[in-house]
Amino acid sequence: MELDPERLPRHVAIIMDGNGRWARRRGLPRFFGHREGVKTAKRIITKACEIPIPVLTLYAFSRENWQRPREEIAVLMDLLRDYLRSELPVMLEKGIRFRIIGERERFPQDIQEMIARCEEETASGHRMTLVLALSYGSRAEIVRAARLLAQAVREGRISPEEIDETLFSGFLYTADLPDPDLLIRTSGEKRLSNFLLYQCAYTEFYFTPVLWPDFTEEEFLKALADYQRRERRFGRI
Ligand code: FPP
Repeated sequence: MELDPERLPRHVAIIMDGNGRWARRRGLPRFFGHREGVKTAKRIITKACEIPIPVLTLYAFSRENWQRPREEIAVLMDLLRDYLRSELPVMLEKGIRFRIIGERERFPQDIQEMIARCEEETASGHRMTLVLALSYGSRAEIVRAARLLAQAVREGRISPEEIDETLFSGFLYTADLPDPDLLIRTSGEKRLSNFLLYQCAYTEFYFTPVLWPDFTEEEFLKALADYQRRERRFGRI
């Protein structure tokens, strides 16, 4: 599939949905779907890095996901541990800068330490920024930004008149990242599920019925080609 290198998205965000259904359709426990989901994530990260897509954000765990059964959360934490452990050398080799957005303080201590280590050691990666959204919720992110901003005003560091969109977005987790140009959601659901609400004001959406474990590099290229066929006007004519 031919992509125009001049019109690649600078930032692609993905809602990786459908692991559970993938497993159920095969009569397997949900765990198998998540395990396949991690394999897919690795393949898509590699592909994005090759193209390259400068920023890739993956919705790996939402704030709402803490309400899943304890056993499923334990499985997801183990997969995250394995991922961070095995992928640090891979990220260093590929020139990937790793970051997370979300409530890092809610994770077990060892995972928080692994996240910090991955962020520190990959900080000079220049090929691609990989962002994992972990315990992330967009409304909570916006409320947090409002609170930080209110504190800054109270302390006299910022005056209310100075507050504009640029200043406000500087208080979001995504402060130094471009807004997503393209958002992909797999598994047929057509909603944003509290993901990057502020940042997606002008984002192009791509929905596919393919379940996340079945989302191949070819499907990813299809989404990018579809994006390149669109005319983006940002409210202009
Ligand atoms: C959606 O499937 C996926 C999640 C809840 C997040 C888990 C994501 C992964 C395991 C892949 C990436 C992980 C890493 C560490 C990069 P679902 O369980 O909501 O599926 P369903 O809607 O079919 O039940």
